[in-house]
Amino acid sequence: MAKLVDILEKFPFPPNDKKPMLIRKQDYSTALYPPNDAFTSDNTFTIVTTDTFMLGIYELCPGGVFLPLDIHPGDETYYILDGPVVQRSGNGQFAYLESGEGLWMPEGAWHCCHNFSDKKARILYFITPKAWSEEIPPAVIPTDEETKFYKGPNNAALPNMKGKIHDISRQGCTDDIGCWPPVDYKEARETGAVYGIRDFEKLNNIHGTKHPMLMRFISSNDYGHFGEFILPAGGYGPRCSDPDVHRGDAALYCIDGPVTVNLTDLQESFVLNPEDSFFLPAGTKYQLVNFENKPIKAVFAITEL
Ligand SMILES: [Fe+2]
Repeated sequence: MAKLVDILEKFPFPPNDKKPMLIRKQDYSTALYPPNDAFTSDNTFTIVTTDTFMLGIYELCPGGVFLPLDIHPGDETYYILDGPVVQRSGNGQFAYLESGEGLWMPEGAWHCCHNFSDKKARILYFITPKAWSEEIPPAVIPTDEETKFYKGPNNAALPNMKGKIHDISRQGCTDDIGCWPPVDYKEARETGAVYGIRDFEKLNNIHGTKHPMLMRFISSNDYGHFGEFILPAGGYGPRCSDPDVHRGDAALYCIDGPVTVNLTDLQESFVLNPEDSFFLPAGTKYQLVNFENKPIKAVFAITEL
C-alpha cells in the first residue's frame, strides 16, 4: 500500500493536522517488515503512526520468525491477538505468550518473535513515544554471537540477567497506575529486562463509579498506557462509559464488538467492528457505548492519561 518509511509519523494524519478518525481494518497500511527481505519478514499492518506513538499489528506464519532483531527508541507493549508466540530478547529472555496476554519491553531491548504453533500468529503492538530512529531496519544489529541463548558461544561474556528481572507477582492498586508492571521502568530501560504480563498480572481498575467500566492495564508508565477496556451490557438505555479525555494522543482497537465510540462534545459517533480502530488525538472527549447483549472489549493505547 505504502512504504513504511513514507508513512512514518504521519498516518492517518501529519502531526499538525490530527483529527479523530475511525480506521477500518481494510484501511490499515500494509507492508512487509523488514521491507528488503521477505524470507524473514512479518506481515505488518500499520494502524496509526504519529509523532507520539505507533500502533499496528504484525502476523507471523506458522513456524515463522522475523529477523533481524528489532529495537526502538521507545517502549513497546504487546497484546497477543492470536498466540501463542515466543518473544526472544537479545539478553537471553524468551517469553511464551498466549492469546490475550501482554508483554512490556522497555526502550532499547533487542527482540524478535517466533511462532512455533500451527496457526498464524497476530500481535497488536504499541510503541511510544518514538518507534524508529533514522534507519529501518536499524543500521547496527547484534550478531547471533552477541545475544544470549542455549549454549550461545558468548553467554559467559554477556550480562547475567537473573538479578535484573524482578518479581511482579504483587497485587496491584490504583497507586500503581503510572508504574506497571511494578518495577523501576528506568532501570529496565538500562538492563533491557522484559516482562510478560499474563492475564492475572494485568493491573485492574474501574473507570467510573455510576457507569463502571473495567480497565486492565498491561503497561503504564511515563511513556504511555496500554490495556483493555471491558464495558458490560445492560442498563437504562445502552450501557455507556463515563466520558473521558486524555492529555496525550490515543487509539482504541476493537476486540469484541461492535464498540460505538461517541465523541460527546462533537456529537459524532462511530461504530467499530472487531479489528477496527479509532484514533483519538489529545483532548478528544469520548465515551464507549454498548448496544450488544454481551460485554464489549477494546484495547486502549494512550500516551498520557
Ligand atoms: Fe518491535
